[in-house]
Amino acid sequence: MRVLGIETSCDETGVAIYDSEAGLLAHGLFSQIDMHAEYGGVVPELASRDHIRKLPALIRTCFKEAGLAWGDIDGVAYTSGPGLIGALMVGATVGRSMAMAWDVPAIAVHHMEGHLLAPMLEDNPPAFPFVALLVSGGHTQLIDVSGIGDYELLGETLDDAAGEAFDKTAKMMGLPYPGGPLLSKIAAQGVAGRFVFPRPMVDRPGLEMSFSGLKTAVRKVIASVTVDEVVSPVDQADIARGFQDAIVDTLVIKCRRALRQTGHKTLVIAGGVSANLHLRESLDGLAKKERAVLFYPRTEFCTDNGAMIAYAGCQRLLAGERSDLSIQPRPRWPLSELSIPESA
Ligand code: KG4
Ligand code: ZN
Repeated sequence: MRVLGIETSCDETGVAIYDSEAGLLAHGLFSQIDMHAEYGGVVPELASRDHIRKLPALIRTCFKEAGLAWGDIDGVAYTSGPGLIGALMVGATVGRSMAMAWDVPAIAVHHMEGHLLAPMLEDNPPAFPFVALLVSGGHTQLIDVSGIGDYELLGETLDDAAGEAFDKTAKMMGLPYPGGPLLSKIAAQGVAGRFVFPRPMVDRPGLEMSFSGLKTAVRKVIASVTVDEVVSPVDQADIARGFQDAIVDTLVIKCRRALRQTGHKTLVIAGGVSANLHLRESLDGLAKKERAVLFYPRTEFCTDNGAMIAYAGCQRLLAGERSDLSIQPRPRWPLSELSIPESA
């Protein structure tokens, strides 16, 4: 089965064609980062308009890259939530309409299920069951994954998501949007231990997390080293290092607990923050100590992309699931509301 995948939940327009036999045939991405950087964050209305502008050309390019004609597609998968309502509406409308025009089934995909299954696109995919750490700009969740759609939430952040904490901290230091990747680059030059920030909620049992207090602690330190509204590059690097170490340590402690609690020996990380090298290395060290194995997507599929949506949609379509003609994007959509496909 060959599936066209469309992702437009936030600030990246992603398109891909996935073939259940041959794997990924083509994928393309247009990032709106430069457009939103001017405003210091995503402007929803601009995001929607740009998805409309970029989507048709990206779809055409993917078909060309894959050497396919319209009639070669067996189904269309589009992100239906969670995300920005206007942005979701663009991908959902385009995806649903193309499926109708081609007379093939369509499937509304949950954005976080896409992230969760993204490591399945790699040559050596993880096998069920596993513990998944989903770390993105909007979510930080630990999930017990028994199969497609069989997700038990083990714990999540009570306030900011890890990616959000990266972005807000970067902004406080005067770095451009989105600060996460840049902050982690700067952290690599920083001295460990000069600034030590709290590891939130690690002394309490359980798998809940919280990152807003950490942000406040960082804000105080930034204020204390700011001279004439400027933080020196050395202070920036040392603060970034302290901040990143605190987040990564916290995530490692929670992942260790989740592995021990479930007894699983497979750990998956996905979502934008799983591109963070320090997080990957630290969780790899944890996995070795716990006699477990760590899996993550290639870097370009950690952040938002069309390939993960094409893959997740293909699995559900193969299992016989279909979405009807209605277009109902859901800005909020708990992963726990997903069902296990009947034939899975
Ligand atoms: O999954 P994603 O592309 O979008 C959402 O679904 O939210 O994740 C984006 C988030 C942003 O907060 C971004 O700053 C963060 O992932 N991110 C990183 C890194 N790369 C992306 N955070 C830390 N280190 C990175 N290398
Ligand atoms: Zn995402």
